[in-house]
Amino acid sequence: MKLTLKVWRQKDKSDRGRFVTYEAPDVSPDMSFLEMLDVVNERLVREGQEPIAFDHDCREGICGTCGVMINGIAHGPRRATTACQLHMRSFKDGDHLTIEPWRADPFPVLKDLVVDRTAFDRIVAAGGFITARTGSAVDANMLLVPKPAADSAMDAAACIGCGACVAACPNASAMLFTAAKVSHLGLLPQGQPERWERASAMVARMDAEGFGTCTNHFECEAVCPKEISVQFIARMNRDYLRSRAVPRPETGGGGD
Ligand code: SF4
Ligand code: FES
Repeated sequence: MKLTLKVWRQKDKSDRGRFVTYEAPDVSPDMSFLEMLDVVNERLVREGQEPIAFDHDCREGICGTCGVMINGIAHGPRRATTACQLHMRSFKDGDHLTIEPWRADPFPVLKDLVVDRTAFDRIVAAGGFITARTGSAVDANMLLVPKPAADSAMDAAACIGCGACVAACPNASAMLFTAAKVSHLGLLPQGQPERWERASAMVARMDAEGFGTCTNHFECEAVCPKEISVQFIARMNRDYLRSRAVPRPETGGGGD
């Protein structure tokens, strides 16, 4: 396949950036999207040009470090697929691809396609720790977790922190990400003691980082590679409201 790539190039945070067009003449349909960029970069290096900077680590869809806008869609055209798991067979010979970094004020562009997502780390850190006894590990069966709570918590824990939800949202809202992080602990018995403070602190941090609020476009859910449901946003909103209205309500077993 022969493709034409329009790639965002930006030296550093202060550079204004611009699109540069590259030809990619020998693309195999079996290459992943990142392998295609590797091949383009090898050629740029051979020609003495600066390679395109992009983030990646696992290349297995689990670490959340990759992620670019491909023709205006976060992670590209395949549903529930990270950019590293996207294969070039999803495109046609002769296609033109526009490749850009995430666009959101709280994710400043560091270089080319690489953005700074440490705002997400600070939201997670604001959630703090769960209360757990130190000492020898308790028997696994001592603390029973209702199956529906375990399933929901697992669904929320699937979030890989990629930031596609923010990039796709017209408000650059981080509510899907934050809701997933609030919920995966808030649904479990072990997460109950700090459930309300956690929701309150993480939402406050999210606001302080400059992310917008949710106005129910649901673009986040549409691009999320882990198919995190917007129902978690509703759940986080309920926990947040309760944390403000009732400072220390009674907490029960598995969350609802
Ligand atoms: S909610 Fe989905 S899109 Fe957002 S950071 Fe988590 S995995 Fe990525
Ligand atoms: S490189 Fe890890 S999810 Fe894509």
